[in-house]
Amino acid sequence: MDGNGRWAQARGEPRIVGHEAGAESVRAITRECARLGVGELTLYAFSNENWKRPQEEVDLLMGLLRRYLIDERPEIMDNDIRFRVIGRTASMPEPVLEEMRQTISMSADNPGMVLRLALSYGGRQEIIDAAARLVELAKEDPARAAALAASEDGFRSQLYEPGMRDPDLLIRTAGEQRISNFLLWQISYSEIHVTSVMWPEFREAQLHAAFADYQGRERRFGGLIEGVGGERTDRTGDR
Ligand code: IPE
Ligand code: MG
Repeated sequence: MDGNGRWAQARGEPRIVGHEAGAESVRAITRECARLGVGELTLYAFSNENWKRPQEEVDLLMGLLRRYLIDERPEIMDNDIRFRVIGRTASMPEPVLEEMRQTISMSADNPGMVLRLALSYGGRQEIIDAAARLVELAKEDPARAAALAASEDGFRSQLYEPGMRDPDLLIRTAGEQRISNFLLWQISYSEIHVTSVMWPEFREAQLHAAFADYQGRERRFGGLIEGVGGERTDRTGDR
């Protein structure tokens, strides 16, 4: 979700105005994804690297996040959404953690879309944390740790949310053509849609355009498409 600051600055407003408008986009996109039957939506809300921003902006973002976690509860419950978080959340302020835990637990049994916020999140850190868990496990049960470390599914089981599906589509706003440490393990075969639209202006129409772009892609997962240039090779499920 990139471009909040630039959007605000282009209007002569402070960056926080962009973050507030960005929160509106979160609402609109979440609602529309749930309506369209998207299974999981993961939003990169705050990266590990974002802690380097001026303390004032970090504080404003944490305040906005806390308010969002409270204000969105009715919307989350009305839409049967299951709210989840990934990241090194221990570094978040306690008042934010409190609201986060409550939103997670109250929505835990909802059967609908998973809405997952990546908070204090980094893809490299997620992989390091998984490796560290395996090292810990190796102290108690070396054979099991070795077995888990030897396969993709085994290693995946140590990630923040082992059950999460690899994203089919990765949307990047504000025109940047980079990954910025997002879901490094999970996006191996994700289709990437880059748009120059700033996040505060990314709404239903832009989401539909991203889906239309995705629908035009041919996903081969490293194999070949049947009937085109050779025999079909095995695919790895929906990854
Ligand atoms: C994205 O907008 C929101 C967060 C990272 C929290 P930015 O704050 O990165 O906006 P730009 O990149 O400065 O425009
Ligand atoms: Mg940015």
